[in-house]
Amino acid sequence: MTDTALDITLTVNGERVSERVDARKTLVDFLRDDLVLTGSHVGCEHGVCGTCTVRVDGIIVRGCLMLAVQCDGAVVETIEGLSDSGEAADLQAAFVERNALQCGFCTPGMVVAAQDLLARAKETNSVPSRDAIREHLSGNYCRCTGYQAIVDAVEAVAKQRAGVKA
Ligand code: FES
Ligand code: FES
Repeated sequence: MTDTALDITLTVNGERVSERVDARKTLVDFLRDDLVLTGSHVGCEHGVCGTCTVRVDGIIVRGCLMLAVQCDGAVVETIEGLSDSGEAADLQAAFVERNALQCGFCTPGMVVAAQDLLARAKETNSVPSRDAIREHLSGNYCRCTGYQAIVDAVEAVAKQRAGVKA
């Protein structure tokens, strides 16, 4: 901890958290190191791969591009929160059923990003096309599964949630 440490209070996965953090610490490092929420991964560390994707005040962000101190007063949700609430349970099951993961390194970020797309689709009562799914997940890199199965899984859940026959 340096002398540039600051006190922050935020809500993480429904729980109020108060911590003293280095002003330069990224959100994803804070989540992983200080709160032991290791579901958000660190890949490129410069906003390209998407594996650190989390929600801040309802909007998905790169946890490696945001500082923890910027989240003072914010509501942060990670893959652990989405898992515990069951919000993404159908997506997670579809990823498993359709072999949409191998090493799993990209999966938390993929699921958080996919859930964001499906939540928006729900608001407009629409089913995103495969192209729209690809576009939305284009900032999330997978280095071992390939994208076909991932798009299959997200599309299946999109249809399922909209009550459309697959
Ligand atoms: Fe954040 Fe790659 S680690 S985008
Ligand atoms: Fe290994 Fe995507 S499952 S990087």
